[in-house]
Amino acid sequence: MGLLEGKVALITGAARGIGRAIAEVYAEHGAKVAIGDLRLEECRQVVKGINAHYPDSAIAVDLDVTVPKTINRAIEETVAAFGELNILVNDAGIHRPHYIIDFPVEDWDLVYSINVRGTFLCTQAAALQMIKQGKGGCIINISSASGKKPDPQGAAYCSSKSAIIGFTRVAALEFGKYRIRANAILPGATNTEMLQGLIRDVPGLIEELVDKTPMGRMAEPRDQANAAVFLASDLASHITGDAIVVSGGEFMDS
Ligand SMILES: NC(=O)c1ccc[n+]([C@@H]2O[C@H](COP(=O)([O-])OP(=O)(O)OC[C@H]3O[C@@H](n4cnc5c(N)ncnc54)[C@H](O)[C@@H]3O)[C@@H](O)[C@H]2O)c1
Repeated sequence: MGLLEGKVALITGAARGIGRAIAEVYAEHGAKVAIGDLRLEECRQVVKGINAHYPDSAIAVDLDVTVPKTINRAIEETVAAFGELNILVNDAGIHRPHYIIDFPVEDWDLVYSINVRGTFLCTQAAALQMIKQGKGGCIINISSASGKKPDPQGAAYCSSKSAIIGFTRVAALEFGKYRIRANAILPGATNTEMLQGLIRDVPGLIEELVDKTPMGRMAEPRDQANAAVFLASDLASHITGDAIVVSGGEFMDS
């Protein structure tokens, strides 16, 4: 029996990258998954791949985490398809690298609108659904090791990821009485399109990073997904308000 048998998850930003891996690995562990993203066609491809192995286990939902009505609709569609909602993974996130003195305020607002406000809005809507069901639940927020360390040109990104860590702790504090747990995952550099975009113009960056990583390689999306399986499973039933770093030791949080 899979670690997530009988559970239903909504994963934001799941059309590609870490969110997609979380959806796929969740399905491998028996969960039903709703794949939410702006990129609806890519969501449908992910659903097709999952359902080919685990029939009727995945649906695509058209979701913009900055727009409350799409969030509510995504939750309604998830519950209509699978009966309830037990796990929310807030994965959708963006990076806009600029030096502070040149930072366009529009880019600052966009990063905060998706990374912080989106996490808040999805958490609020999912928690209301979980409270209504009365069976507890689990919220996992994808922060970043950059939420605890500075990156060059990371003023908006790093601070938004720090905000997610603070938000996760308050969610854990407020939701404990409903048996809803809230935890964060802090990925280190992970091999996705977002990272490829960031490193394209910096030759040697990955080699340098791998050199500083005790495990001797960059993270793959599935490394993050495996941590997300653990946190969502009953194995983690007494873990809340915490943050797990998945960086192969590149970032050590103490
Ligand atoms: N890749 C890394 O090295 C790394 C490291 C640390 C943290 N993270 C975090 O992990 C998460 C996933 O990153 P990734 O590397 O897979 O990125 P990615 O760009 O490959 O995927 C992010 C997904 O989020 C979706 N998205 C963006 N805005 C959205 C919105 N408003 N509503 C719904 N979906 C939206 C995108 O369409 C995309 O499919 C992000 O929160 C990111 O900050 C990534």
